[in-house]
Amino acid sequence: MIDVAQVRADTQGIGHSTHLLACGSALMPKSVVDAIVSHTQLEAQIGGYEAHARQSDQMDRVYHSMAGHIGASAREIALMENATVAWCHAFYALPLKPGSRILTCEAEYAANYVAFLQRAKRDDLTIEVVPSDDRGELDLAALERAMGDDVGVVAITWVPTNGGLVNPAAEVGRIAKAHGVPYLLDACQAAGQMRIDVQELGCDFLSATGRKYLRGPRGTGFLYVKEAWLDTLEPAMIDHFGAAWVARDRYELRDDARRFETWENSYALRAGHGAAVDYADQIGIDHIHERVNLLAQHARHCLSEVAGVVLQDLGRSPCGIVSFSVEGIEAQSIAGQMAASGFAIGTSVVSSTRLDSERRNLPTLLRIAPHYYNTEDEVNAAVKHLASLIH
Ligand SMILES: Cc1ncc(COP(=O)(O)O)c(C=O)c1O
Repeated sequence: MIDVAQVRADTQGIGHSTHLLACGSALMPKSVVDAIVSHTQLEAQIGGYEAHARQSDQMDRVYHSMAGHIGASAREIALMENATVAWCHAFYALPLKPGSRILTCEAEYAANYVAFLQRAKRDDLTIEVVPSDDRGELDLAALERAMGDDVGVVAITWVPTNGGLVNPAAEVGRIAKAHGVPYLLDACQAAGQMRIDVQELGCDFLSATGRKYLRGPRGTGFLYVKEAWLDTLEPAMIDHFGAAWVARDRYELRDDARRFETWENSYALRAGHGAAVDYADQIGIDHIHERVNLLAQHARHCLSEVAGVVLQDLGRSPCGIVSFSVEGIEAQSIAGQMAASGFAIGTSVVSSTRLDSERRNLPTLLRIAPHYYNTEDEVNAAVKHLASLIH
């Protein structure tokens, strides 16, 4: 059980607004803010390099925290400035032979899809979108049929930016593994919302951000690289941190996932990222998952009773992201009016998940995404206010 009063007391943002956008950038707990501020103060007092040297054990612990949170080893973690950079490091490093196919899903995120398009053009690859089943989840039978010797990578999004969807990521992992195909999983919106176990998922690479359900600061993310790849995977770009310059004509890659990192970083934000992971672990990811789902289901129920609201979620068990549209009123206008009245909710534009949006003929959607620090009363108040804007 989560001590809701305590987590609300730990969250400075409670009381400033009714924040219901954990899938955008969640409210940070105080321990995260304190970690960032105290490292920044140390930098101000003794200098940036000196602060890093003094805090190097704590900085190392962030890798262990992150690894522990997803069932990996610290060697398999690279800390990044966001999920996109993390994902791109894995994707652009993957050796893909000309003529090979990229298998992805209908709900794939824009950042990933434009990278598919670029590599397809540059390296003569084809992109094949595995269709969704009648509930909107990636169709596993269709994925199995699409497999073949010419598949270079399976790259899908676990929890898309809208649609409440949770793709069957572990089942996809089993299929990819059975065919010996590398599996790159975008877990950006899953991290901090549900349990991530890279062994169970069977993924080779996994990327996520810090600022969403993990409640870390903006400008943080991470990449998991399965140990088996660390012998061979050459990053698409390197510097002298990821690869030491050992002779005039030679460099040596680090033997861990940090070969994807570069020399300069925001150590204050990293400290905050580590504090966020520790805070989530202290509360317990299964408790978090349960409460996020409970509040999201409550939001769906309340919204379903408002005339003119159309729920747009997909999948057998929709997650914490509640997507909907309002007949005859633009999403941006509603989100703007909600913000003016102290309710932070979000929108999701067609170009974020173009394939799914076009298939379903969706407009820009609204998103309500409660976190465990929210209450049913806050959801009620937001839906009541939204209803007053419509009618
Ligand atoms: C599914 C998905 N993947 C990746 C990203 C990109 O994350 P970041 O902004 O941290 O790069 C997002 C951001 O909203 C997302 O929703």
